[in-house]
Amino acid sequence: MYTEKVMEYFTKQENVGEIPDADGEGTITSPTCGDLMKVTIRVKDDVIEDVKVKTFGCGAAIASAAMLTELVKGMPLSEAMSVTNMDVAEALGGLPSQKLHCSNLAADALQEAIADYKERNGNEATGQRGKRKEVPCQLEEAKGK
Ligand code: FES
Repeated sequence: MYTEKVMEYFTKQENVGEIPDADGEGTITSPTCGDLMKVTIRVKDDVIEDVKVKTFGCGAAIASAAMLTELVKGMPLSEAMSVTNMDVAEALGGLPSQKLHCSNLAADALQEAIADYKERNGNEATGQRGKRKEVPCQLEEAKGK
């Protein structure tokens, strides 16, 4: 049912938690299942220096959170603002169609955290905040699974 990547990232604990006095934070609740994810970021010189995630959700959501943190740690904010739900799902090698909504939480919560950081620093929140899209359930078919 799950790819080896999902099983591997489900067990990763390195970036689980919350950054005290974070520079930005974002929490997203899934409209599908009610589970939630909170992302906190530390930013230095416009780079995501550290990122931590707390997940109240299923294994697919936990794996998505772990993958997100690895994707964006050390990434310039300008680049991180382009990370999408699809990027996270694809980095995990895909998810079962009934679990794609779980991967939506990760990038959405990150975008909220970046927007929060920008607002705290007097910049208009741009990027994907408010433009979130659910990963289409056709992802697996599109990837030939
Ligand atoms: S079932 Fe809710 S996040 Fe996966």
